[in-house]
Parts: sequence; C-alpha cells; structure tokens
Amino acid sequence: MPIKFTRSDFPKGFIFGTATAAYQIEGSSNGNCGPCHWDTFSATPKNVFKAENGFTACDHFHRFEEDLDLVQACGFDAYRFSTSWARVMPNGKTINKEGLEFYDRLVDAICARNLRPNLTLYHWDLPSALADIGGWANRETAKRFVDHTNAVIQCVGDRIDTVATINEPWCVAWLSYFLGHHAPGLRDIRAAARAMHHILLAHGLSVDAMRSLGTSNLGVVLNLTEAHPASNKPSDVNAKDRLDGIHNRWFLDAIFKGVYPQDILNKLYEFMPKNFEDDMSLISEPIDWLGINYYTRGIVADDPGEPWPSLKDIEGSMDKTQMGWEIYPEGLKNLLVRVSRNYTGNLPLLVTENGMACADEIQNEIVYDPSRIDYIFSHLAAARAAIDEGVNLQGFFYWSLLDNFEWAFGYEKRFGIVHVDFETQKRTPKASFNEWALSLNS
Ligand code: FCB
Repeated sequence: MPIKFTRSDFPKGFIFGTATAAYQIEGSSNGNCGPCHWDTFSATPKNVFKAENGFTACDHFHRFEEDLDLVQACGFDAYRFSTSWARVMPNGKTINKEGLEFYDRLVDAICARNLRPNLTLYHWDLPSALADIGGWANRETAKRFVDHTNAVIQCVGDRIDTVATINEPWCVAWLSYFLGHHAPGLRDIRAAARAMHHILLAHGLSVDAMRSLGTSNLGVVLNLTEAHPASNKPSDVNAKDRLDGIHNRWFLDAIFKGVYPQDILNKLYEFMPKNFEDDMSLISEPIDWLGINYYTRGIVADDPGEPWPSLKDIEGSMDKTQMGWEIYPEGLKNLLVRVSRNYTGNLPLLVTENGMACADEIQNEIVYDPSRIDYIFSHLAAARAAIDEGVNLQGFFYWSLLDNFEWAFGYEKRFGIVHVDFETQKRTPKASFNEWALSLNS
C-alpha cells in the first residue's frame, strides 16, 4: 500500500489539478463544431472499439458548470482543458462565434471557482478541411495553427494561467502517421517524418504568435516513456536506444537544443521536408515550463525482420492497468530527474497527465476503485522523490476528471475519478475522488 499524502508533503504553492481534453468530453455534435479527423477515423471499420466516437461524449458542452463544481469540490487548484480547433474553426479557416463563446464561458466558469485555467491549444481535433490537405504531413497545417492560436488567445488569453501549444507531439506524429493507431491512421514513414517536424514547427510558430500578443507562461506537453531493452543482448539495447530516440530525444533535443538526435535523423533524413534545418531556431525558442505526461514504461526488442526502426513491443511482467500498461512509478521519477538534469535545469516542470484506467462498475451508487488510489499515491510518491532530488516540479494533474472517449479504445477504458454513465450522463464521484478530496483538503 503506497503512503498517503497531504498538501504539506509538497512544497508550498505546488499545484494539484485534473485534466481533460475537448474531443474526449465536450460532444462534437454540439455548438456548430466542424468535422475533425477523429470523426472519420472512428467511422472507418476497425479503427475504434465498437466504432464509437466523440459526437456526444460526456456532453460537457452543456454540463461544464456541473463538471467544474466537481473539480472545485475535490479541492483541486487547477483545471487543464483543451480547445477544439474544429470547434473554433469548423472549416479550418473561418471562426465559429459559438465555439469561441463556449470557451469564453468555460474560462469564466473556471476562474469563478478559483481554479487556475491550464489551456492546451491542440489535443488532436484537427479540422477535416486540414486533414484533406494532408494534415500534419503538410507544412501549411503548421502555419494555419497560428490562426487557431490567435483566435483562442485573443478570446481567453487574458484569463489563462498557463498555455501549452501541443499535447503529445509523439502521438500526433508517430502514433498517428507511422503506427496508424490514431487519426488519420497512416502507416507511412515519409508522412510520419514530415509530421514529426511540422508538429514541432506548429509549436514554435504558436509560441512566437503568443509572445507577440503578450501572453506569458507558455509551454508544451510531451508524453515521455522510460525505454527498456527486452534483454541485455546488444541488439535489444540498441533497439531501446531507437525507442528512446523516437519517443523522447526527438522532441527534447529539438525543443531544448535546437537539433534532432543524429541517430534518428540519419534514418529519417531522406523523408524530411526540405530545409527543415531553417526551422530549428523557431522550434527551440525558450519556453516557460514543460509538461510531462507519464503512464508507463516501454519495453522493446530488436525486430531484424522488419525495416527500421525494427522494434517489437514486449509485454512486461509487472501489474497492469485496464489498458494493459505496466504500473511503474519509478519511471516517472527517473524521467523527471533525467529531463531536468539533461535538458531543463531549473525550468518549471509539471506532470500534466498521470492516471489509470480501471474496469469500474457502479454498485449501490458507489464506485470502489482501490487500485486507482494506489496508482495515484505511488506516482505522487515518485513525483515527491524527484523533488527531493532537486527537480523543479511545480504541479501534478490527474488524468482524468471524467470517464471519457478514450480514443481508439472508445468508452470502455475508464480513467475518471468521476464515473460517467454514458446513457444518462449521470456523474458519480468514485472512491478515488473522495481520496483526492481528503488529501487536498487536509
Ligand atoms: C494520453 C492522452 C489523453 C488520454 C491519456 C490516457 O496520451 O493525452 O488524451 O488519452 O493518454
């Protein structure tokens, strides 16, 4: 049983929050939202569990006041949310007034509850009009992202605490254009290499645009993994380095050193967009904080029968979550220490996502989720241990407030500390919610 914590176990001013994302909760059929690539990806057989989609999701568009009441009642300090590009610009170009008004009301409602709004500009809802021109494989999409940035910031920028440009560029690019697990479901190394660059370019352009508008406290959110080799064989150890390079170093080196890691670039070079080097200074413009999303570690073996990167995922032997992800809190501490020593120094870090999916069930109006409680406490302990090693960690956000549309897994995987009945939209705080409230209010 991991040790429980209270606020006093963390430095004064440490921020506790909970996180959500637009497409996963709002309901994309509400408020004249435009079509996005997740709508079509999920309408295509075998992409998403039961072909579910975000059309209704948690109907947060209509229920955000009730949902924010829960965030406040739990005792959190901050609320991380995202703005849907397809809601703000349904055709990728023209502003949808109703979309911006929604975010205006949402931010007011967050502030009215004394919560700090932590905004993410892009959490994956790319307008279909931009998917039509090749999405992130096309440089034009990165340029258009500035329009979305400007529209959102001009509307709510005056009340925002922190802004992240992009959520998880690895997922946006590699998972979606190389592994094909997320929209648009491509498996194409050339498109992937371009997406790996353009998503970072979008980040740099967006930071630049926000600085011109006078917005401060700008960052980006990376999902990092601790890479492990399946064995001590040199071929597996090299495979581990490739995983680390694609998943972690590609983004960290680009943002904090202005270069791509040479071992990975050697392999992707022939597919990269022309003159990508000219964008590196923009991509590495200083930021004010870095967000890290952490769930599990990655184990890989060399797969010599396949073309580069010749990686085979290996299942680990530790206890797993409903996602099949190993529970490995040490990985969080190790990553925080590594990132702070090798890249960020004293720059503030935030754990912007960490959480566990469980096969939760309601019984007599109660959801008992002790394994989630253990997961939370053990990862908070890992975060605390990183602080003890000198990491400037300033906050921790639980993923997620609500059970929601878990992308390719549909509604089956439940990450929320609040249970959602997707038939009735009834919200029921789980035991883990009560545990958070006890910790935060004591
Ligand atoms: C992260 C995503 C988030 C959610 C969690 C479980 O990769 O940012 O939207 O799906 O995983």
